[in-house]
Amino acid sequence: MNVQHEIARSVAYALLAGFWILGGAKFSAVAGQRPLALREPIAAASVNGGAKVLIADRAGGRLSLVDIGQRAVVAERVVGKRLSDVAVTADGSLALATDEASHTLVAVRIAGGRLDVVSQTKVSDYPVGIRLYAGDKRAIVAGMWSRRLDFLAVDRRGEDIKLRKVESLALPFAPRRLLVLPDERHAIVSDAFAGQLLVVDLEARKIVRRATLDAHNIYGLAWDAEQDRLLIAHQILNSTLPITFDNVQWGVLMKNVVRVISRAQLFDTHLDLSNATRVISLGQDGQGSADPTAVLPLDDGSFAATIGGVDQLAVVESTGLVVQRIPVGRRPIALLRGRLPHTLLIVNQFSATIDVIEVPHDSPVATISLGALPASLTPAERGKRTFYDGRLSFEGWMSCHSCHTEGHTHGLLADTLGDGDFGAPKRTLTLLGTHDTDPWAWNAQMKELHDQVRKSIETSMHGQASADDVFDLGAYLHSLAPPPPAEPPRNAADQAEIEQGRRVFAAQGCGACHIPSLTFTSSDAYDVGLEDQHGRRLFNPPSLRGVGHGQAFFHDNRAGSLEDVFDLYGHQLREPLTDDEQRSLLRYLRSL
Ligand code: HEC
Ligand code: HEC
Repeated sequence: MNVQHEIARSVAYALLAGFWILGGAKFSAVAGQRPLALREPIAAASVNGGAKVLIADRAGGRLSLVDIGQRAVVAERVVGKRLSDVAVTADGSLALATDEASHTLVAVRIAGGRLDVVSQTKVSDYPVGIRLYAGDKRAIVAGMWSRRLDFLAVDRRGEDIKLRKVESLALPFAPRRLLVLPDERHAIVSDAFAGQLLVVDLEARKIVRRATLDAHNIYGLAWDAEQDRLLIAHQILNSTLPITFDNVQWGVLMKNVVRVISRAQLFDTHLDLSNATRVISLGQDGQGSADPTAVLPLDDGSFAATIGGVDQLAVVESTGLVVQRIPVGRRPIALLRGRLPHTLLIVNQFSATIDVIEVPHDSPVATISLGALPASLTPAERGKRTFYDGRLSFEGWMSCHSCHTEGHTHGLLADTLGDGDFGAPKRTLTLLGTHDTDPWAWNAQMKELHDQVRKSIETSMHGQASADDVFDLGAYLHSLAPPPPAEPPRNAADQAEIEQGRRVFAAQGCGACHIPSLTFTSSDAYDVGLEDQHGRRLFNPPSLRGVGHGQAFFHDNRAGSLEDVFDLYGHQLREPLTDDEQRSLLRYLRSL
């Protein structure tokens, strides 16, 4: 990579951030400090049957207790750094919140209009989901980048609350959403990026089913008790269709759907869930519905779903017809039932509000603010909003996040014209750490990040790229840190194995193209003997940082595992590896 160029660019961004702070200082009592901290509600749980709602905040680590009747925040406390999920006991007296930044689970007592931290415990790294079960005596926590499911005991003796990790189960993919079924015996764990789903037996603490759906970005999981079925809000990308105007417009390229899986189907391990289950499209001709974020069953087989990319709530009849699309706040992210019949509560991430909706009214009857937002946002903060905005694409069918999930990737192929023509789809690259890995695109043809961003808006999304959007998105991409290692060193013996793998990497000359120790890529394109459908053989090496999180490898996902990169394709081996060398090389790669 071109270090000087990169430093110059970083300095330019730093200067811009500095201007922003100076510009903002006149609103602030203390020069150089933001006038108001940002808030970004990210998850919510009902307290006392929807009379109150507890909101977890990702930007400031707050928990906010909102009284829906009073339409006001009645208690608030900072309990962590970057909260990701929250669950509340049935009696409304205890909340458990996951903090993705400090890898902890925080227990908070809710009493007399106060929130008090009563206990904390370390859980598997990057926790993103928490659910209670067994009469609120047990909990499961999903660790995303650590790919683990933790089982905890919640011991309550009077005022004394103890959280105890009982067991931790390794998962075959990075998890995000959790759902405990009404039998309290099984839970669903969904893939953070692509379309895998697990059924876990909560007593045996074992995976009893692993299914791969034609799906990615699974954000909504809900059990419809009346119909005894699972509802899943997700997206479907057709990886072989080229991204033409028509394919986008007719909603065949990127579908935004709710999938319906009956209990019988879920437990029929011989059934191909991907093909056998019903899929209901939330988009209509001329009206895309980028990024469904949550789903909630209503009466008689109907349901509601929040559509994060176009700021709407969709109400869908049992026939599958979308009967209402109700405008709500910016990026609706969570959907709860209110205390009164037919009342729905929608939590909006970017406007930091709760909309109260009374079905069938087609606008909110009230909007509750969780607190004032800063008067102006930094370019990176604006860019983040643009990144998740489906309106950037033609008719709202997709956002950047639809493919680059939370800045990472769903890992699927897409025929985005990145290589100049159609017919050779390429794997969607992660954008985590992308600011140091110039040039961009598989063919290394994009020398400037802003050119790649403009091209992504225009050709991947058929949208209009304004100079402001391109600038803000660039600032946001510059703020994304590389992914953490898939398997950090565990102990001294493991560290020695990694060190051995590092020596194999060096001896094999891997570093010529994957330059250690910052990016593990380089600025050229090389012919490593892998051809695409059009006979092209020159590709830019992907960065190997976080490579262990991948589910498939090379530009067209032809290698199904990291082992296959060497076993099947003998990728760039100067000499064949002994079993020991291969084991340590793989261990080293997974530590990057
Ligand atoms: C339909 C899926 C899709 C959407 C939507 C999408 N991308 Fe991509 N993106 C891809 C694919 C596929 C590639 C690799 C293409 C290639 O190089 O041939 C890619 C590559 C990139 C790269 C280059 C990464 C690297 O390391 O070389 C950047 C940067 C990028 N996209 C940014 C964006 C931004 C910003 C948006 C929203 C404006 C966006 N993308 C929307 C699929 C998508
Ligand atoms: C001559 C340059 C070159 C050398 C030497 C090289 N690589 Fe690569 N590597 C590439 C290119 C180019 C790709 C992408 C090829 C493609 O996808 O078509 C790649 C892909 C990979 C991938 C897959 C990454 C992904 O996300 O899909 C891994 C893993 C990898 N290399 C590891 C290694 C290791 C380990 C060595 C040493 C044994 C090595 N490489 C040597 C150029 C090189």
